[in-house]
Amino acid sequence: MAEFALPKNSVVKKGKAHKAEGAPAKPRSFKVYRYDPDSGENPRYDTFEIDLAETGPMVLDALIKIKNEVDSSLTFRRSCREGICGSCSMNIDGRNGLACTTAIEDCKGEVRITPLPHMDVIKDLVPDFTHFYAQYSSIQPWLQTVTPPPSGKERLQSPADRAKLDGLYECILCACCSTSCPSYWWNSDKFLGPAILLQAYRWLADSRDEMTGERLDELEDPFRLYRCHTIMNCANVCPKGLSPARAIAEIKKMEVERQL
Ligand code: SF4
Ligand code: SF4
Ligand code: FES
Repeated sequence: MAEFALPKNSVVKKGKAHKAEGAPAKPRSFKVYRYDPDSGENPRYDTFEIDLAETGPMVLDALIKIKNEVDSSLTFRRSCREGICGSCSMNIDGRNGLACTTAIEDCKGEVRITPLPHMDVIKDLVPDFTHFYAQYSSIQPWLQTVTPPPSGKERLQSPADRAKLDGLYECILCACCSTSCPSYWWNSDKFLGPAILLQAYRWLADSRDEMTGERLDELEDPFRLYRCHTIMNCANVCPKGLSPARAIAEIKKMEVERQL
């Protein structure tokens, strides 16, 4: 049987423990992954006790409080604080989600926070999205046409055609789905993953786009599309309630139907 030895610096060590000051009314502990590749040190889990009576209700509020008041070197992404920008995606208590829309009271006991799984880590809770964005770029995510717009100005859609984009356009590219997909963990070099395939379908489903055949040609590949095995983790975890698995099934259906 093959044996694998993990590199020494892959072991996550016990880090620093920070107690809340004074007598906190509602103490709660957060176990946070820390890693700085420039330091040469192993990753570690630091523990921060904070007073929920003096903190906003969301996991992101706790992280901001820790950064502002306890350890300014803690690094994470965030922008909108309302589930729109997708930048605060991370793994909270073993489940991918958005820190700004995950309520602390919905977490059990000590809240464990790590970066999105199976991504390279730039620092602490910040994963490297370079490959993910390159895959997004590869599907040419913009409207492509060859004929001029009928009105000379706009490409109009019927309400029914516009409705076909519901459940697709809302995607905020947070990557919670792709990084919870086992097929993507093991084949992300070739498999586009649920987020990018949902985006690909968003353009296939757009009545105004005129590159349907070319787009399907690009996706017709044993790895890019067909590594999805309908495990459904993607649909279970999406913080916007979308179903990348359904979008992938629709692409597969389009691939079959054009052969008929
Ligand atoms: S489908 Fe959902 S989980 Fe996946 S990237 Fe889009 S918003 Fe995030
Ligand atoms: S349904 Fe497909 S894309 Fe979604 S988690 Fe499963 S294998 Fe991955
Ligand atoms: S900060 Fe924008 S989605 Fe969380």
